[in-house]
Amino acid sequence: MLRVGVLVSGGGTNLQAIINAIDNGVIPEAQISVVIANSDMAFALERAKQAGIPTKVIVRKNFPSPAEFDIALANELRSHTVDLVLLAGFMAILGPDFFTHFENRVMNIHPALIPAFSGPGYYGLKVHKAILDYGCKVTGASVHFVTPEVDAGPVIIQKSVQIHQDDTPESLQKRVMEEAEWKIYPEAVRLFALGKLQVVGRQVIIDK
Ligand code: GAR
Repeated sequence: MLRVGVLVSGGGTNLQAIINAIDNGVIPEAQISVVIANSDMAFALERAKQAGIPTKVIVRKNFPSPAEFDIALANELRSHTVDLVLLAGFMAILGPDFFTHFENRVMNIHPALIPAFSGPGYYGLKVHKAILDYGCKVTGASVHFVTPEVDAGPVIIQKSVQIHQDDTPESLQKRVMEEAEWKIYPEAVRLFALGKLQVVGRQVIIDK
């Protein structure tokens, strides 16, 4: 049984997609052992409670340094003997101390086709606004393994989404979630649960 820990900050629709995929058997042999939010306002916490998943709130400002926040997160995950960590709209940057515990065991969903519109400062609606301002015709979402460099770890799955001429950041965010994020994140977790992902340098090899 794969034990998954999910870190969230906001609405939690990606968390919900993973919960649903586990419940309906798309992701086999997995359970979400804990959902951790960095704000007690995150609606994702309600989604976790509805699904009967233990929750925890760990707030950065309650720790003297970023490293101590990282260690508190890692300790909470380890107390639930988590095998895989999912960042699902988690709006905090994790430092190297976190990854010593979870090398190639942390995934993130990013709402663009990495390496475009990614890295520090590109999160949430800001990403979609930047994409529209640039005049792009196609965008998408990416699931990648997380490394200390923001949005720069090995890419696992990407899916493209057409941009419409009348899109707003909000309409584009909604379509990228519906057409890409809520599909590729559960799929990446499914492949991990089945032991089908192998990281070789920057490449993620998917066993067919
Ligand atoms: C999602 O669009 C996710 O890709 C994005 O935040 C949203 C969270 O929504 N993540 C980032 O921008 C990370 N750089 P959710 O809370 O409903 O899953």
